[in-house]
Amino acid sequence: MTTAEIRAKFLAFFRSKGHAIIPSASLIPENDPTVLFTTAGMQPLVPYLLGEPHPMGKRLADCQKCVRTGDIDEVGDNRHCTFFEMLGNWSLGDYFKKEAIEWSFEFLTDAEKGLGLDPQRLYVTVFEGDTETGLGLDEEAAMYWQKAFATKNIDAKIGERIFAYPKNKNWWGPAGQTGPCGPDTEMFYDTLNMTDRRTHAPGWGEADECHPNCDCGRYVEIWNDVFMEFNKTTDGKFEPLAQKNVDTGMGLERVAMMLQGVSTVFDIDIFQPIIRAIETKTGCRYGESPEIIRSIRIIADHLRTATFIIGDQRGVGPSNKDQGYIVRRLIRRAVMSGRKQLGIQGKFTVAIAEEVIKLYGETYPELAANRERVIRELDAEEEKFTRTLEKGVAEAAKLKTKFADATEISGATAYYLYESFGFPREMTEEEFGKKVNDTEWADEQKKHQEMSRAGAEQKFAGGLADHSEISTKYHTATHLLDAALRQVLGTHVEQRGSNITAERMRFDFSHPAKMTPEEIAAVEKLVNDWIAADYPVRFEMMTVDEAKAAGAIGIFTDKYAGLGNQVKVYLIGDDTRGYISKEICGGPHVEHTGQIGSFKIQKEEASSAGIRRIKAVVS
Ligand code: ALA
Repeated sequence: MTTAEIRAKFLAFFRSKGHAIIPSASLIPENDPTVLFTTAGMQPLVPYLLGEPHPMGKRLADCQKCVRTGDIDEVGDNRHCTFFEMLGNWSLGDYFKKEAIEWSFEFLTDAEKGLGLDPQRLYVTVFEGDTETGLGLDEEAAMYWQKAFATKNIDAKIGERIFAYPKNKNWWGPAGQTGPCGPDTEMFYDTLNMTDRRTHAPGWGEADECHPNCDCGRYVEIWNDVFMEFNKTTDGKFEPLAQKNVDTGMGLERVAMMLQGVSTVFDIDIFQPIIRAIETKTGCRYGESPEIIRSIRIIADHLRTATFIIGDQRGVGPSNKDQGYIVRRLIRRAVMSGRKQLGIQGKFTVAIAEEVIKLYGETYPELAANRERVIRELDAEEEKFTRTLEKGVAEAAKLKTKFADATEISGATAYYLYESFGFPREMTEEEFGKKVNDTEWADEQKKHQEMSRAGAEQKFAGGLADHSEISTKYHTATHLLDAALRQVLGTHVEQRGSNITAERMRFDFSHPAKMTPEEIAAVEKLVNDWIAADYPVRFEMMTVDEAKAAGAIGIFTDKYAGLGNQVKVYLIGDDTRGYISKEICGGPHVEHTGQIGSFKIQKEEASSAGIRRIKAVVS
């Protein structure tokens, strides 16, 4: 059964059960700042799950475009994809557990109206209950499953065919921080079909018993029916919803994988033309080597996702912000894989996008309608990134000469090449013919993650972004504030600490007296003038002696700013207008001061003897 047939069968089945078929909503959530992308079919339906009447009625079904970028770096293995299609049916305060379970079973097992799966190979799970929600074992769901299996003469005993799990497995939602959620029941397919259900997939070991949620891979989750009867509130409580809903989700690619008897999602029918197009462009054969398989999967996945996001009804192109940042990252990672691992010389992303549009344009008409835009954006980004890569190669050559005596590459240098030119660590090692210091690299990564998390908590719930705009702005504003204080109060001012959250910055510095309102106003004005002048921000790798000679301030032993003899010096300003600030720092920073927006001091107070504290915000 092809992917298209499964999609069509699902919708036809639920139409026959009185459901209205609704089109896929946009991948870019409307009115939901807590998530970057639509990650599940229920997300666009939240208002209706909360009780607002839906114009199409109380029974809905669709095939929803979804993007989950949490495991972007895992793509390349056999099961992670950043884009997928989710089949779903909903009851908005209409039917509940009985029908949801009966129809799920019917669709899965009926050969004519559904998928015709062998019921002997189906296993299900239910919520076991807990004190937090006050719910007990979901006996009702278990009973309807027993009745359903009985129609195929299967005695579905708990612990043999029906398994109960706690909240971390059998509870779904909310999609963001708050919203509708509830216990669920999940359906699994036994890919091994052996008489002993406790045997693990080959290569897993024998010690414990296998079960549906085991990680060995024998049982594959195919469908999730959520019984949404709660609303999680901002204070973490579960309140009963006004209506009891059903929300289901079936991963189309996964089901195709099982029905087509293939062991990876990249082997299903719909990926084949995309993989062929990559082979044509590269002359590489999928399957030639593990590295080639991985690279082709990365290109196929990332360009499919990028095409869907740019070609969406509310399409977003590559940029440094929010969804655009993810698009940029997807495209760059694909281009990097193509050029470095597969040796592609010319541009290739457009050819792959054309194939994606051809495959999906009928199901998702917006893709075909936005074809020009997809091509334009991809082509421009590929061009831009190729130039960045070339500059990176030149920069790497310079650094290689400069640090010729070093036995290894410092984490700061490697991270600099990664951040500024998109060089993965392996590529830097290749260019230098040396290894990157492991500990320092890990430190850099950790530091950048921490930076991004501070701001990410607010805006990018669920770890959807790995780089926060806001904390980066604050970080650069800190350098400007430091420079302004030294200019207004004197060069005795030294930074004694700083702390950044998504809402504000705090800066401690040495100064013997309370600042006057005039001094505060002067500092604030200087910072805002520098922001308005839109000075470029960049950094250079220098030896400690060079940094001192250049008049850089900062902590010369900062473990993040570089180890060994190399440090990273951030420069704000330019050769014509002069430099506002030179400071040893690990970054990251904005590219131009104008990106900060505006700066406001909210408070100046004593921190301890001889140390003052400023709290400020950017907006
Ligand atoms: N909302 C449920 C899921 O995404 C169905 O698994």
